[in-house]
Parts: sequence; structure tokens; C-alpha cells
Amino acid sequence: MNPASAGELRYQSGFGNEHATEAVAGALPKGRNSPQRAPFDLYPELISGTAFTAPRHENRRTWMYRRQPSVVSGRYAPHVQAHWATGADRSVALPPEPMRWHPLPLASVDADFVDGMHTLAANGDAEAQVGIGALMYLANRSMDRRAFVNADGELLVVPQQGRLRITTEMGVLEVKPGEIALLPRGVVFKVALPDSEEGKGLSRGYVCENYGAQFRLPELGPIGSNGLANARDFLAPVAAFEEGEGAGGGYELIKKSGGRFWRAPMKQSPFNVVAWHGNLTPVKYDTANFMTIGSISFDHPDPSIFTVLTSPSDTPGTANCDFVIFPPRWLVMEDTFRPPWYHRNLMSEFMGLVLGEYDAKPGGFKPGGASLHNCMVPHGPDEEAFEKASHSTLQPQKLDNTLAFMFESRYRFIPTPFALQSAALDTDYADCWAGLKDKYQP
Ligand SMILES: [Fe+2]
Repeated sequence: MNPASAGELRYQSGFGNEHATEAVAGALPKGRNSPQRAPFDLYPELISGTAFTAPRHENRRTWMYRRQPSVVSGRYAPHVQAHWATGADRSVALPPEPMRWHPLPLASVDADFVDGMHTLAANGDAEAQVGIGALMYLANRSMDRRAFVNADGELLVVPQQGRLRITTEMGVLEVKPGEIALLPRGVVFKVALPDSEEGKGLSRGYVCENYGAQFRLPELGPIGSNGLANARDFLAPVAAFEEGEGAGGGYELIKKSGGRFWRAPMKQSPFNVVAWHGNLTPVKYDTANFMTIGSISFDHPDPSIFTVLTSPSDTPGTANCDFVIFPPRWLVMEDTFRPPWYHRNLMSEFMGLVLGEYDAKPGGFKPGGASLHNCMVPHGPDEEAFEKASHSTLQPQKLDNTLAFMFESRYRFIPTPFALQSAALDTDYADCWAGLKDKYQP
């Protein structure tokens, strides 16, 4: 099967499931992983996404049966990717103020998914396997004979404009705005842009590069056994490999390792896995399937109720990263200020908007934009949102056609020089609260 020409894509359901899939019947060995000779003389190769000895419920690994092992490669030479920064740059003196960026312009973009990646802010240290980067990709070109692999972390991809067709070693996924893709550390992939190719515009989206523990579904506690993101709605690809021209045409493999970029020529396609089994696999998820829970009396719960995936740290309940979404939902609370309250938190919040409006910032926060509220930086609804929500009639109200999200982390984000010097930096952001006057009337 040639992934490039695959029509309707097929998927397997479940998060962290043990999948077994063959592009050619009989390619998976039976009853063992590494027989003396594998079926069809394929090469068995193991990828471990966790330590061998990780607890069983966290252990992720996949056996691949491929036409050539990944070690068959040309030599690596340095590759320049000047805008993809890794980890916190502690030399930056960052005022403890709210920050916001307008949508990054797409007009002059000439890059593929990898070269078009821009880190806006990052924390932690990839070498210590702690923290995350918050990035945006701006792309107009598909990766054709070019593939990418990231040894520094997994990538949580949140498309904001344009579909992504992602060919991976485990098969092909396609995501559109409203959906997300989770690409494990170490799995080779390439990204095609069907909409850009069809002239429907450029592609833009957000990425969380997670250096820490792998994303998983959050515990549900008193919610019970169902709700929020349900495991069955995560979709993994089925085995697919390139043959013919794709297999013999040569590839350039870009590798990110320790924050540096390298490239190597490959004679064969890296997408040569004929069959695989295991639980380390890319997945996609449609946020429309998120079962949102909120108050049906008064007040509203903490936004952690909107957690899709969480990457824990070594402190229970204090995440390396929570991926939180604010999807379409009903507001029905009585005697309640319905947007978020004013607050400052231990956790640092990087926020993006995929579509529509965010209820706390109806005017100034645009799809494709971003905001950053670090540890103990006060923020909340802007003046317009406060006035409206303080006086509106509290009918049941549907927030529709909206999707905002947060990468929330225990570690303070440091914006990159690119983000701080960008014309997209909204230097007037703080003005949105300037009109909140002292109205105290004893
Ligand atoms: Fe917040």
C-alpha cells in the first residue's frame, strides 16, 4: 500500500491499546517477536517509548517488521532550523506581566512543517526530560522525500488552519482543525498539506513539544468511568508502507536531538514498516468527541475539568503539562459570573485559539493568536467581558463555534527572542483591563 495514494484512511480505536496490524497478511510473526527469520525476511525492530522497566500501565513499546532497519542511513550533517528553540532560556529577563500575540502572519511563509516551526515559549530542559515547548508551525509546502524524527519529546499537534496528512512509520493519519494528533518521541513522520496543495491557503497550527512524561488520559475520580476524552475516540493508524518510487527514491531524514538539528540522506524510505504490533503509536483525536462537564447549579468548576491529556511531573497532581480545551458548551449556572474569574495561579498558562471567540476575551484574542500567563501573573476577563457578564440575563446560553486550548505547566514559560521581537507581540494587551475602575459603593 502506498500511503501517498491511500484513499479513505482506516484507523484502530483506543488510547494506549495493544494494536496488531499488517499491511500484508502474514507479515506479523506468530507467538514471538523476534523469530530466527521473520515472515517475508522482514527485519524486526523494537522502539521503546518508555524505559523497559516502566510500570506496566505506563509502558509503551512497539515491534515493527520492516524492509530495512532504521539504522541503515547515511551520515548526519548539521541542519539549520533557527526558530525551533528547546527548553528555557534563563538569560531572558521577562517582566512578570500578561503577554499576548496576534496571529503570526502567513503571507511570506515558504516552508514545510518542520522548517516552518517557531518556538514561542518554552520551559524546562529536554535533556532532563522535564518541561515543554509551545510552538507554532507556518507552512505552505508538503514534505515529499523528507522525513523528521524528534528524540527530544513527543509532539502534540493542534491544527488551526488547513489539514495535515501525517505519514508515520506506523501508518497514515489525517487531522483537520478541531482535531489533534499525538506523535510519539522517536517515531519518524512527514507531513503533507492537502489544503495548501489545493490552493486553499497556508497551514498554521500549534504544537506542544513535550520533553517530559508521555501524555495520558487524566484520572476521572468522582466523575466515574466515562466522560471527558474517552479512550475509544483516539484513533491509531493501520500499517502502511511505501513501495515503488517512494521506496527507492531516496529521502532526507531530519533529526532533532538535544535541541540540535541534523540531516542524513537515506536510500530507502523510512516508511517501510509492513506490519507492527504494540502500544506506542501516533494517535488522532477529534475534540468534538470531548464530553464536557460543567456546573448545573452555580459557580463553575476549575478549568482542569476540561483536561484532555496530562503529562505528570514527579509531584502528584502538579502536571508537567495539561492539555486543556474550551470547546462548545452550554452555560446554565444561576447567579454566577459565567466567564473565568480573576485569578493568578501556580501553574503557567500558554493559550491558543483554534476558532471563534474565547468568552473571557471576545475582541482581542484572535484565532491563530496566543497568550501567556505565567506563574502568579494576574489575569482574567477583559473590561468588555466583565461588564457584559455582570449584567446579562442568565438564560441558558450555548457557547458555539469556539475552540480555545491551554498548554498548562508547573514550569514558567520563557518566550523566545523570536516571540519577543515579533511584530505579532501585542504590546497593548494590558490595556484590556485598564478600564476596570474602582466601583466600590459601601
Ligand atoms: Fe488563567
